[in-house]
Parts: sequence; structure tokens; C-alpha cells
Amino acid sequence: VRADLSIRPLIEEAALAEAVRRLAQRIAADFAETPPLIIPLLRGSFMFAADLLRALSKQGLAPHVDFLWLGSYGTGTQSSGVVTMHHDIGRDVTGMKVLLLDDILESGRTLAFAREYFLSRGAASVAIAVLLEKPGKRVVAIEADYVGFTIEDHFVVGYGLDYGDRYRELPYIAVV
Ligand code: IMP
Ligand code: MG
Repeated sequence: VRADLSIRPLIEEAALAEAVRRLAQRIAADFAETPPLIIPLLRGSFMFAADLLRALSKQGLAPHVDFLWLGSYGTGTQSSGVVTMHHDIGRDVTGMKVLLLDDILESGRTLAFAREYFLSRGAASVAIAVLLEKPGKRVVAIEADYVGFTIEDHFVVGYGLDYGDRYRELPYIAVV
């Protein structure tokens, strides 16, 4: 990856914070009865997860948290289409209300894989929250229960999302 790729800001920090706060309000209300097991999908969702978990805490929710590391991308902007598990979570999910977090819902393969995986292991339910979704790109029939922003079909980076393992550290979302 060249070091001088130009990027254009798309969603600024304040807008991300507001969206996360809105999502946290809805999620905290929906899971008030039974705290969920929140499972961020690594690596892309780490920043979204860190902010959302803090926002949920301010809403009075005390979830369980564990991490699943899945991969489907190579080093560029095209998905390989094959989801692989790099690291499993470390607990039994039987009877739990799972809430998956991901950075972006694109083809749907990653989240469909994760949802089927936890349902097959006995989760009571599996809901999905994503910061971003690209509606035009779905290959698998799956929708998120909570969506921060619906964006056009651009390759985006920042706030956890990478391009060739770069730009994850940006505090805003940008288009490459
Ligand atoms: P899906 O399985 O095709 O839905 O893709 C989900 C994963 O692909 C996300 O968790 C991201 O890691 C990656 N991805 C999809 N679109 C983008 C993008 O625009 N920028 C960076 N990563 C992306
Ligand atoms: Mg990812």
C-alpha cells in the first residue's frame, strides 16, 4: 500500500459519537431485562465496540463481553468470500442473548457466519449492531437490528476499518 493514498473525510467524529449514543439508547432499552453477551468481531469493530460499551454503561447496561476474531479480507479492498475464524470466544453461549458488533455490513458473509455459529452453539438469540452498512452489496440475506449509518458503495477506512492494515487509528470515517 502506498503511503500517499488520498483520503476524504466522510463521517466526522462528532457524528460518530452521536450515532453511537443513539444506538446505545436503543440497545440499552431493548436489553434492559436480560443483559446481552456482546461479541465484537475483531479486528474492525474494536473502536466502535469501545465507544459503544462506554455509551451502554452510561445508559445503565452491564453486558457480558467477549471477542470473536474472524477474517475474510486479504490485504486489499476485495473480500475473498471465505470467512475464517482466527480466534474463538472463551465461554459457553448456551441460553444467552448474543449481540454481535461489527464495523460494517457489506456482503453479509461475516455476520451470517457468526450468527449461525452462535445459534448452532445454543445461543437463545443473536442480534446484530453495525456502525455502517452498504445496502447494495449484500450476497447473503441478512440485516442488522441496529445500524449507525447507511453509506454508499465506497471503500471506507478509519475508526477501526482498514485498507491494507492501515488507517484503523483515524478517529473519523474516510473514503479512500
Ligand atoms: P462482509 O462479510 O462482506 O459483510 O464484510 C464484512 C467485513 O469486511 C467487515 O467487517 C470489514 O472488515 C470488511 N469491509 C467491508 N467493507 C469495507 C470497507 O469499505 N472498508 C474496510 N473494510 C471493509
Ligand atoms: Mg472486519
